[in-house]
Amino acid sequence: MTTLANYLNTHANHPALNDVITTVTDVGKTISQLLRKGALADILGEAGNQNVQGEDQKKLDVLANDLLLDALAKNAHCAGVASEELDDATPANPDGSLLVLFDPLDGSSNIDINMAVGTIFSILPYQRQGQNSENSDFLQAGNQQLAAGYLLYGTSTVLALTITDNVVMFSLDPDTNEYVLIEENVQIDADTSEYAINASNYRYWRAPMQQYIDELIAGKTGVRGRDFNTRWVAAMVGDVHRILCRGGLFTYPFDTKDANKAGKLRLMYEANPMSLLIERAGGAATDAVNRILDIVPNDIHQRVPVVLGSRNEVAYVKDLHVKHADK
Ligand code: AHG
Ligand code: MN
Ligand code: MN
Repeated sequence: MTTLANYLNTHANHPALNDVITTVTDVGKTISQLLRKGALADILGEAGNQNVQGEDQKKLDVLANDLLLDALAKNAHCAGVASEELDDATPANPDGSLLVLFDPLDGSSNIDINMAVGTIFSILPYQRQGQNSENSDFLQAGNQQLAAGYLLYGTSTVLALTITDNVVMFSLDPDTNEYVLIEENVQIDADTSEYAINASNYRYWRAPMQQYIDELIAGKTGVRGRDFNTRWVAAMVGDVHRILCRGGLFTYPFDTKDANKAGKLRLMYEANPMSLLIERAGGAATDAVNRILDIVPNDIHQRVPVVLGSRNEVAYVKDLHVKHADK
């Protein structure tokens, strides 16, 4: 049996990174316990505030954010944190060498209906040790990430993590409260017949995305010559976890629903960490055309269209977009 602590000691030759990952995953144990208690822990419902992006905050969004923030502020290696729920990045320890970004609670609309939610995290190097970190320190492309992962609070709690060139998974043992290694080298098939999209936004998509989904729905009667199946968890953590387990394509594409948003998902604490996991498991992650991990951010809360998963399917979507742009 390999615990997370054993794994970090033997695989990641980076004590600071190990320590920060341990802090984040320890908070994950607390969030997992709160979710198990559900309504009995008074964690459900609205907090009565909005975050910087104008979204209503749930009690658990705020609680999970505060737990991570407090724990990381005490970690000597953490120079600063950025979160979906914080307008600006918060400086932590100037001598720290790492910056931590997180979506404390992904899939908020699932909390009150007892469905899967998660925590997503991304760890970047800090270049100005000795000085207080600022928003601009976080604006690094996803290809600079030192580690990334998520906690999925589903029927069991699972941690997916990448700190080396592969992706590993741990399951939280409720008897010992330890993360135990369950997958040593997650790999995604290149082809798939399963896709995830919120199709209620169809009329807001660009023509190539509409064409793509039309082709999948036509199934064996259309150009693809085979049937496809839809799944939508409404928590990216859940959809990405399914893709790491059995392949698939996930997209939250560009849409014109809200003129101020180029897509719904956030680059720095949703798309980047998930893209690193997906790529290292042999998949691909794009904004429909360009590699997500190469995008240089200009805002910690910037949004990005996302197409990720089985690499041949992601390439097919890119092809449709490129052909359309040529016309
Ligand atoms: P969050 O709860 O952190 O705001 O993220 C929710 C995101 C993502 O996890 C999910 O894939 C998507 O929003 C669901 O969007 P719809 O409500 O449009 O289905
Ligand atoms: Mn989210
Ligand atoms: Mn969230």
